[in-house]
Amino acid sequence: MKIFTNIFASLSIVLLLGACSNSTEATKAKNIAFVDSLISKMTLEEKLGQMTQVDRQFLNDISDISKYGFGSLLSGGGSTPEVNEPKAWAEMYDSYQKEALKSRLQIPLLYGIDAVHGHNNVVGATIFPHNIGLGATRDPKIVEAVARATALEVAATGIDWDFAPCLAVPDDYRWGRTYEGFSEDTELVTELGGAAVRGYQSANINNPNSVLACAKHFIGDGGTSFGTGLNKLIDRGNLAVSEDELRKRHLPPFQKAIDEGVATFMAAYNTWNDLKCHANKFLLTDLLKEELGFKGFVVSDWAAIEEIPGDYKSDIITSINAGIDMVMVPGAVKFGNESYENFLKLFKESVDEGLIPMNRIDDAVRRILMIKKQSGLFERPFSDQSLLTYIGSQNHRQIAREAVQKSMVLLKNKNDMLPLPKSGKKIIVAGRGADNIGMQSGGWTISWQGEMGNTTDGTTILEAIRSAVNDETSVEYSVDGKGVTGDVAVVVIGEKPYAEMEGDRKDLKIAKEDLAVISRFSDKNIPVVVVLLSGRPMIVTEELDEWDGFIAAWLPGTEGAGVADVLFGDYNPTGKLSFSWPKNMDQFPINPEDDHLYKFGFGLSY
Ligand code: GLC
Repeated sequence: MKIFTNIFASLSIVLLLGACSNSTEATKAKNIAFVDSLISKMTLEEKLGQMTQVDRQFLNDISDISKYGFGSLLSGGGSTPEVNEPKAWAEMYDSYQKEALKSRLQIPLLYGIDAVHGHNNVVGATIFPHNIGLGATRDPKIVEAVARATALEVAATGIDWDFAPCLAVPDDYRWGRTYEGFSEDTELVTELGGAAVRGYQSANINNPNSVLACAKHFIGDGGTSFGTGLNKLIDRGNLAVSEDELRKRHLPPFQKAIDEGVATFMAAYNTWNDLKCHANKFLLTDLLKEELGFKGFVVSDWAAIEEIPGDYKSDIITSINAGIDMVMVPGAVKFGNESYENFLKLFKESVDEGLIPMNRIDDAVRRILMIKKQSGLFERPFSDQSLLTYIGSQNHRQIAREAVQKSMVLLKNKNDMLPLPKSGKKIIVAGRGADNIGMQSGGWTISWQGEMGNTTDGTTILEAIRSAVNDETSVEYSVDGKGVTGDVAVVVIGEKPYAEMEGDRKDLKIAKEDLAVISRFSDKNIPVVVVLLSGRPMIVTEELDEWDGFIAAWLPGTEGAGVADVLFGDYNPTGKLSFSWPKNMDQFPINPEDDHLYKFGFGLSY
């Protein structure tokens, strides 16, 4: 009897698998037929419209969405609805989608946004640690959980597409985007980047609670040389490496993203050996689409094609022929960039004059429509506002708190001064980062650059310390450290928020005003634990001796309780540096063999 049962069981598994793969095959065939049929009906203007992405803030009129048949809209950093709260985002999304469905073929639009550490443009959303902190967790499970929660909060506002994860491998912290990278180490970026893609997209992009991910920026933005970038600094600079080095150091995270089924790629602003990535057919077509077999679509970065040498028309021709499938125009006339009307005019001229072949247009449109079809956008074009309750939910904030705990790196603990006692001592809290949600969240928070102050809902480190102790009166707060005394001082300092090139710096020393706050205590022999809020390791070599405790907190986001959990030992620190910690400014680009202040992988526990 047993044998019969086993045979029956294995037979049904084979039949089930067969049925599944048939249904997958059947779905694939159905999608191909659908896209082929749609393309066969499209005019050239409709095809070029699908390859156009515009920022909603630059729409001259909402009716332009159906008039030009835009394939996509985006919210660049800070491009928010009038009232910045979750329901208003969902209503805004639905209004644009309704307009898109008025087009002749009723093709729904994809809406993209940078939700790089939570749904970070939306007030009330959970803000998670930036990637530099997630890198220190060394934990792909928490990275996947963070991405999953982010995807749900983004999907709750209707938005379909997240320009994340950033898969840069930064080796020079003078770059303002260092914190968007998980690590200096290719293997770690590969592992955590893959986990992020799984979290954002779940097992199937047809899942209504998931979003399309975007492997960015392809390729090598983390390896550019200082002095070759904008304003002779480093962002959007030149990557001067051999193809072997590019394949070894920068390509693996993108290969992993493809293996995980990432739906989209974003091209990088930087040049590789003086050729713009947006103009590089070898990278975008021969390597990415042919050799690696990437089947999704490639979007340009914000007005990036305009940085290709030549006039705007030649930029369009060069970038589309190189393999860009959708152009993030984004129509920013007020920023001195090109309008979407001019883009479409020159784009059509280029095709009519045979300067962009029709088969390139059809390939790009097919890629875009296939992703739309596979993601269920045609069947479910509108938001599901029942999901709004997930935005900023306690469950998500708990996930964020755990990620914060695991991202903290304990670098110094003289005389085991940490963990702090919850009673019996007077604890001073000082520093401009102690009671500052904006500073603990960093760039890409509510606005593009982020800002200091009470920018969104969350728990500051000071509030968390106050909740952690047994008697609130044992906590004295003074932002500049003046007028208070006590048994131990927690001084929270670091970098003001920034994003992209605004964070490029020649010098990574701690600000004098921050050092002055620390000295107010160390000069009186009050033990000091410094909590550093920064988007990168900073130069602390000369000052470190005066510090009794030192924790790298990176940019933890809204859940400051995770920092207090480590300070009071409710979580025994496990974080390990995902970036080597340099002694001075002469150690860039980072060489792991150098004699650093703290090595890659360093981190203490209690
Ligand atoms: C920015 C960034 C890119 C982002 C895009 C849209 O300039 O380079 O990471 O996804 O524009 O905001």
